[in-house]
Amino acid sequence: MNVIPAKVREQLDNASQSHLLLFWDELSASQRTSLLNQIDGTDLKMLDQIWRSSINDDSPLDATARIESAKSPGQVVGQPQSAADIDRWKQATRLGERELEAGSVAVITVAGGQGSRLGFDHPKGMFPIGPKSDRTLFQIFAEQILARRRRHRSTIPWLIMTSDATHAETLEFLQQHNYFELGEDTVHLFQQGSLPALDAATGRILMNGPGELALSPDGHGGLVAALANAGLLDLLAQHGIRHLFYHQVDNPTAILCDPALIGFHAQQRSQLTTNVVRKVSPTERMGVLADINGRTEIVEYSELTPEQAERCDASGDWIFWAGNTAIHVFDREFLEQLAADGGKLPLHVARKNVAFIDDRGAAIKPNDPAKPNAIKLERFIFDALPIAERTLIVEGNRTREFNPVKNRDGADSPETSRAALSRIAREWLAAAGHAVADDRPVEISPLHALDADELAQKIASRTIRVADL
Ligand code: UTP
Repeated sequence: MNVIPAKVREQLDNASQSHLLLFWDELSASQRTSLLNQIDGTDLKMLDQIWRSSINDDSPLDATARIESAKSPGQVVGQPQSAADIDRWKQATRLGERELEAGSVAVITVAGGQGSRLGFDHPKGMFPIGPKSDRTLFQIFAEQILARRRRHRSTIPWLIMTSDATHAETLEFLQQHNYFELGEDTVHLFQQGSLPALDAATGRILMNGPGELALSPDGHGGLVAALANAGLLDLLAQHGIRHLFYHQVDNPTAILCDPALIGFHAQQRSQLTTNVVRKVSPTERMGVLADINGRTEIVEYSELTPEQAERCDASGDWIFWAGNTAIHVFDREFLEQLAADGGKLPLHVARKNVAFIDDRGAAIKPNDPAKPNAIKLERFIFDALPIAERTLIVEGNRTREFNPVKNRDGADSPETSRAALSRIAREWLAAAGHAVADDRPVEISPLHALDADELAQKIASRTIRVADL
């Protein structure tokens, strides 16, 4: 292609984005085609609207009213306290196990993020986290799924959402490891979309190179459209999958296919169930679930002033206690409904530093955290919450289930997450009658045991030797 199509030029001129063609003459034929494809996939009008509303103050009055009207979530199954609670959890667990045995559950791992806070040069799922073995996050999840398949004698499909940033390497990694014995035909990689970054001051789309827009993954909320575009919703329906266990790639202690969570979800015919944990302090940087105008929604920590974060309900409990672990169970039909409505959850604007080339082609790397140069756009999966008619919240056990790897060091880092894996293994061993010194790293492969009971039973039957752990 030599000539710029007139229609494209006109569209870009009208949207004040004609700089995207500044380097046209220098591009190869394939670069030109790729650039035109990127432009074609970009909704210029929508970007303009978003940028305009980002420079006009968002209505703070609405935001304040929203927070003021928030109530602690009503539809909650708390951690078991009484004998009756324990019974209720057992019943839910049994029901969840039946769903697993019936083959109606699949796992979705969202693994398309860029993991910029961790600063690891590969997809985060390839991060070595096993305290002794350096098992990767992907391996831990694969082994959990394999162990569940064996325990419940069913095929649990594994769906992994990747992005332009993570797809090729993730695919290669899984191929190299022979899909961790899960069977290639039961592991489905699918790619989410991407969205361009805009110059915060002018709304111009940033360019990453002469023939390339500065694109980044469209957020975990890109899941709905990505699943539908890949034809996976149809495939899941054909396989009789009813419940999708959703989790993020960065938490190795998530209990994949947790039968209790699936059981409560199925029992209450929930469309979207969320595992929450109690925040450790009111101002902890964690999104929380709250009821607003009769619907469950996420309130982000950045939306709350310290005073609002500390507000209590009539029983003296924090209103904003229910921290989102980003572990959900989705009803497949609910996802189909979202996809049929366009699959487009709302866009959120984040101000970030984004590298780009200027109009002369010089590479610019802004790094002033106080003055980010760009706005990035993302969709969040939890925006599906207020759309659902029936939601449910189940309180998880924080120290057991929520130990994510977000940051390079400090809180939620590889160090804290590895320590948690070791601690959990020590607790299981102690319950089986084997005390292990606190400073000794211990690791239990999900293929050895998925929980303390299984470990105790395998040690008792000498299937596992403690000295090998
Ligand atoms: P985070 O919000 O922690 O983002 O993602 P991130 O990209 O991993 O890390 P930072 O913020 O750049 O440091 C939470 C989960 O959502 C997935 C991530 O892979 C992770 O499992 N995610 C995030 C996607 O799948 N796609 C996205 O576009 C964003």
